[in-house]
Amino acid sequence: LRVAILISGSGSNMVSLVESMTGDHPARPVLVLSNVPGAGGLDKARARGVQTAVVDHRPHKGDREAFETELNTVLEEARPDIICHAGFMRILTPHYVDRWAGRMLNIHPSLLPKYPGLNTHARALEAGDSEAGCTVHEVTAELDAGPLLGQARVPVLPGDTPAQLAARVLKMEHKLYPAVLRRFAQGERAPIYMSQETAED
Ligand code: GRF
Repeated sequence: LRVAILISGSGSNMVSLVESMTGDHPARPVLVLSNVPGAGGLDKARARGVQTAVVDHRPHKGDREAFETELNTVLEEARPDIICHAGFMRILTPHYVDRWAGRMLNIHPSLLPKYPGLNTHARALEAGDSEAGCTVHEVTAELDAGPLLGQARVPVLPGDTPAQLAARVLKMEHKLYPAVLRRFAQGERAPIYMSQETAED
């Protein structure tokens, strides 16, 4: 199976996904695409022999459909069976979501349905939550709300800053997303759950 990965930034989740697709894994990475020219993840993808592309959203300011038309064109050339959003920071309309329905995954740094949107760690700390985590879900037209495919929990520790919590969650993201992708590529849809019992920071 052919996997395309969409990024906007450092691409640490992309790296975990790319490095997981080896051996008897049914999928291989065929493209890493960024909406941000010069995103750090692009060099990491090239260093791992993965084709890259950039579809800059800025020239299409305010015209989401024009951006998504270009995005769809570049993606169609890669013929992806699965598209993994990994730190891809664009809100997508049905023009894109309908085109790839059933093939898109996303990782979100909260225990959805809690804290859709941004600043998830600060909001969890603000709320005094005793645990936090990340969620992999299928992408639908509604932001951060598609069918659940996996969730990983970590403890919130006294005195945690958003950055410390983010780092703890990110480590679990790098375990959860590859595990979900492998199952998804094998046609499995039952959600998987992980937890980091002790905080091995
Ligand atoms: C991660 O917290 C991820 O959950 C969110 O973007 C952040 C950065 O991800 N979607 P990456 O390092 O660019 O993969």
